[in-house]
Amino acid sequence: MVEGANVQVTITATTGRPDDAAASQVRGLAARAHEVDGVAPLSEQPLLRLADAAAPVVHLTARTPAGELVGYAQVDTETASAELVVDPAHRRRGTGRALLDAARTHTATATGTGLKVWAHGDLPAARAFAAMTGLVVVRELRKLRLDLASRTDATRRPLPAGTTLRAFVPGQDEEAWRRVNARAFAHHPEQGRLTVADVQAREREPWFDPEGFLLAERDGVLVGSVWTKVHPAGTEADEPVGEIYVVGVDPDAQGTGLGGALTSAGLDHLASRGLATVVLYVDADNTAAVRTYDAQGFVRAATDVMLASDTEGSPTGATMGS
Ligand SMILES: CC(C)(COP(=O)(O)OP(=O)(O)OC[C@H]1O[C@@H](n2cnc3c(N)ncnc32)[C@H](O)[C@@H]1OP(=O)(O)O)[C@@H](O)C(=O)NCCC(=O)NCCS
Repeated sequence: MVEGANVQVTITATTGRPDDAAASQVRGLAARAHEVDGVAPLSEQPLLRLADAAAPVVHLTARTPAGELVGYAQVDTETASAELVVDPAHRRRGTGRALLDAARTHTATATGTGLKVWAHGDLPAARAFAAMTGLVVVRELRKLRLDLASRTDATRRPLPAGTTLRAFVPGQDEEAWRRVNARAFAHHPEQGRLTVADVQAREREPWFDPEGFLLAERDGVLVGSVWTKVHPAGTEADEPVGEIYVVGVDPDAQGTGLGGALTSAGLDHLASRGLATVVLYVDADNTAAVRTYDAQGFVRAATDVMLASDTEGSPTGATMGS
């Protein structure tokens, strides 16, 4: 039991899949925070993992004596990272600090290392909270935006000679894609770990469209891919918004212009769907990716920061988005 200024909350830790009622309470809490803060507090992976019995995560819930869910944290015990949210109507009562303390304890027990926490939108409350709880910024993830109407022919990049493009085939291409993705993102903490089951979970999402998931091959061998996504109206913006979700090039094929060509092809696909705006997420220190997107006309729209109590190495690599 944690005693705050105005309220007492109980923090409970569980593993495995939360029951449907608990999962829907977490989604409701995240939606209320999104509404008030203007930024979603939980990204795609933790939301998907609410329905995943085998995910390597600990769910931490903060409930009032009446059982109301007022805070939630999800700890990924493989990457020692967490996302954390407190209901806007229940903030500044010590719930965030109590969840953070519990997350730190679980991470130390499971991994023996310090905890890293994502703060989406780099909000003032998260910054102040971080300062009070001894967290510092160790990684910066930028959200970039492109107005497709401003795109010029000069930014289009052709495929390197001998490379062909085709749509992903569900049930056939998962393992080849996973292998190239793991090689392309070998140093990336989340992206490089994606499994075939993670790909299949995304195939079951309503946004999944194999026509927007393009594989580049050379002599029949996969060398890179661009995976796009369309956010329906009312999620990212009033209008539907496209996303360059993942671009990955096998290390053996890097430096040949394939990354730029794949990004161009992804943008062509999203333009063909009649979208006006495209977003993507990239690590600020991934110079090659930042330059690629800069050349396509992307500009910075927002920043997410990763906070940690120590300064473990800040990783590089482009990244999977929202
Ligand atoms: C950040 C967040 C989790 C804090 O939750 P909380 O329950 O309000 O946090 P606590 O009550 O435990 O606050 C601990 C201390 O952090 C600081 N703090 C928290 N919010 C603050 C704010 N809006 N302004 C100034 N200081 C703040 C204060 O020093 C506070 O202690 P105090 O209230 O005794 O002064 C909550 O605002 C939230 O869910 N934000 C959206 C999601 C997010 O950004 N998550 C990432 C967290 S790193």
